[in-house]
Amino acid sequence: MSGPAWVAVADDVSIKEGVPLAVYPKGLAVLVIRQHGELFAIANKCAHMACPLKAGRLDGYVITCPCHDWRFDIRDGAFLDAPELAISTYAVKEKDGKVLVRLEEARDGG
Ligand code: FES
Repeated sequence: MSGPAWVAVADDVSIKEGVPLAVYPKGLAVLVIRQHGELFAIANKCAHMACPLKAGRLDGYVITCPCHDWRFDIRDGAFLDAPELAISTYAVKEKDGKVLVRLEEARDGG
C-alpha cells in the first residue's frame, strides 16, 4: 500500500492559537497554524520571492508576507490579489498528542 506520508512535526500543545510554528518535515519548510481552533499547514515560503511567511502578520485566515506584503489565505494558499497564484498547502491533523502533516501537496502552488 502506498500513499502520502503523514509526518509528525510537533506536539499539539506547542501550536498555540494564532502563533504560526515553522517546522521542517523531511527538510520541507512548512508553517503550521492554529486559527479559530482549526489547524492549517502552508508552505513557509512566499510565492513572490520566497521570504519565510513565519515572520508575517496573521489576521484571521490571512497571512501577510513580511517582505512585500503579499497576502495569502491560509485555508487554500491563494494569493488574495490574484487567486491563480498560490502557495502550497498541506493536510494536517492531530493524533495522540502530535500534529502530523501530509507531505503531498493539497494544491500545487506553482
Ligand atoms: S517575498 Fe513575499 S511579498 Fe515578496
